Amino acid sequence: MSYLRLGVNIDHVATIRNARGGIHPDPLRAAEIAEQAGADGITAHLREDRRHIADKDIKLLAENLTIPLNFEMAATDEMLGIALTHEPHASCLVPEKREERTTEGGLDVAGSHNKLMYFVDSLKEKNIRVSLFVEPDTKQIEAARKLGADIIEIHVGRYCDLESGDLRAKEFARIQSAAKLAEELDIECHAGHGLTYDTVAPIAAIPNMKELNIGHFLIGEAIFVGLDTAIRKMRKLMDEARAS
Ligand code: PXP
Repeated sequence: MSYLRLGVNIDHVATIRNARGGIHPDPLRAAEIAEQAGADGITAHLREDRRHIADKDIKLLAENLTIPLNFEMAATDEMLGIALTHEPHASCLVPEKREERTTEGGLDVAGSHNKLMYFVDSLKEKNIRVSLFVEPDTKQIEAARKLGADIIEIHVGRYCDLESGDLRAKEFARIQSAAKLAEELDIECHAGHGLTYDTVAPIAAIPNMKELNIGHFLIGEAIFVGLDTAIRKMRKLMDEARAS
């Protein structure tokens, strides 16, 4: 099976830094450690309220990373301007609500074609790969294709939150079908949200999957074992799932 890339989301290194308003821990240092531990890319989400990643982090990451930066952003003029300034490898468009704790649900690509077209076209014009964060839903993936997105990132948060049982099996089947459809439509398929050591293997074993983006669990686990060890273990679980 093809190699599955690991994107490490470092947002919550910035969450801890911001708790004291200083400079520690440094997200760029975390990104460098992630790279040494086997991350294939770094993801950072600059939210409208700057609750974790700050503008200066994006600048430093864009200037210093030697692996691809995936800039997660809401579809707003402000974020588009920042993406066009720093020209990350990719931009992942996500829905964003000020009051949410984390990204809840995928983008309604099917219902906002005209609005999203401007963002997709502007990013692609600068050779920034465009990823759309969507639910594992045929309608949304077909709409992403119509927009010319390069990538869909499937929201697997619901799958990760469900206890084992029928509902979970059904959600997993939706993710499998979504990944297959993406490949048929020539869109690269990624997945993310809520992945842990316990939930990663089945998602990693989906053959059409090309990249997983994982953040909160890894940064939390790093408190106990260190970031390098946490990422290496995730990488190993992904490789084992892929080989099985
Ligand atoms: N992918 C997207 C689009 C996200 O919004 C997030 C959370 O910021 C992640 C992946 C990573 O999710 P988690 O932090 O739960 O691993």
